[in-house]
Amino acid sequence: MTELRLYLAQRISAAIMVPLVLLHIGVMIYAIQGGLSAEEILGRTRGSLLWGVVYGIFVLAVALHAAIGLRNILREWCSLQGVLLNTLSWIFAAGSLVMGLRAVAAVVGSA
Ligand code: HEM
Repeated sequence: MTELRLYLAQRISAAIMVPLVLLHIGVMIYAIQGGLSAEEILGRTRGSLLWGVVYGIFVLAVALHAAIGLRNILREWCSLQGVLLNTLSWIFAAGSLVMGLRAVAAVVGSA
């Protein structure tokens, strides 16, 4: 049951990432038109609830997706299982989530 849920969560998080990746590439192409500077990026992102929510969801989906994928690899390639497998996967998920959300907070929050 857990494996089925993880399987579904990985596919759902992948589906969530598809439009976000396309949006991200689109914004990057738009953003570099006027040159790429920290001022220009922060001018757009600071104080923006919308960008905070969009990138927050992005980070959540990546942390979930990558941790489940890494769990599969650790199980298949390193033969890990049980508590060790789950603990390492949770550490990876929590670490990516914290780092990702800190990055979002840094570009969306005020100076
Ligand atoms: C739009 C972006 C993405 C899509 C559509 C996507 C899609 C998928 C799908 C469908 C699988 C399952 C493959 C399978 O089991 O046969 C997968 C596995 C995986 N993905 Fe992603 N992915 C995306 C981004 C990412 C990112 C950003 C990371 C890492 C930061 C990542 C890491 C992994 C890992 C580690 C696996 C497991 C590979 C395995 O089981 O052998 N993916 N991805």
